[in-house]
Amino acid sequence: MTDNVLISPSILSADFARLGEEVAAIDTAGADMIHIDVMDGHYVPNLTIGPAVVKALKPHTKKPFDVHLMVSPVDPLIEDFANAGADIITVHPDSGPHLHRTLQTIRGLGLKSGIALNPATHADVIDYVIDDIDLILVMSVNPGFGGQSFIRSQLRKISDLRKKVDQSGHDIIIEIDGGVNPLTARECISAGATALVAGSAVFKGAGTYQQNIAALRSNLASQVA
Ligand code: DX5
Ligand code: ZN
Repeated sequence: MTDNVLISPSILSADFARLGEEVAAIDTAGADMIHIDVMDGHYVPNLTIGPAVVKALKPHTKKPFDVHLMVSPVDPLIEDFANAGADIITVHPDSGPHLHRTLQTIRGLGLKSGIALNPATHADVIDYVIDDIDLILVMSVNPGFGGQSFIRSQLRKISDLRKKVDQSGHDIIIEIDGGVNPLTARECISAGATALVAGSAVFKGAGTYQQNIAALRSNLASQVA
């Protein structure tokens, strides 16, 4: 369990008419990274943000851009997002033909590489790419939309991944994405997560952005909820 969990608010739940201001606001409110959900209407049933928008947002914060690509085929878009200002690029193993090559491409561009596991994807998928990743994104909802309910079986997957990462000796972030609120955040951190993505809980929660982020970070979350 870590005391220094990273918070990566998903701007999918932000006001799209004021995205630059929203990014600056979550930066000031204590976000560690900015989670950008890229959806293509093909790999997932929704269409969101492209490289031009990512580039336009870059001057609004110095925090790392944690770009989650839900697009297929993924390879032709990686360089565009790198040039647009992505710091971490996370891909789904079934979004291109050669995962290892894709991860090498991301690192070859000087970025951190991530692998995203859908709810039904086994933790073992990381075994032969563990030397090639900086982040594992555990999807605790099916990708495509914000505001869905947390799928509890993913807590077991976080624990399994925690063991694999510890055994590897690598410094790999285990990030959870989907249905994260102060209560589920606490369970994810206990299971071994070191980073939390949260859209609704930050942008549509009861408090200010600062209060909402602080509530996710707190190990006393059950008292806040
Ligand atoms: C889903 C996205 C998530 C989503 C999280 O495909 O990857 O990042 O925006 O939204 P909440 O926190 O509302 O579940
Ligand atoms: Zn995401």
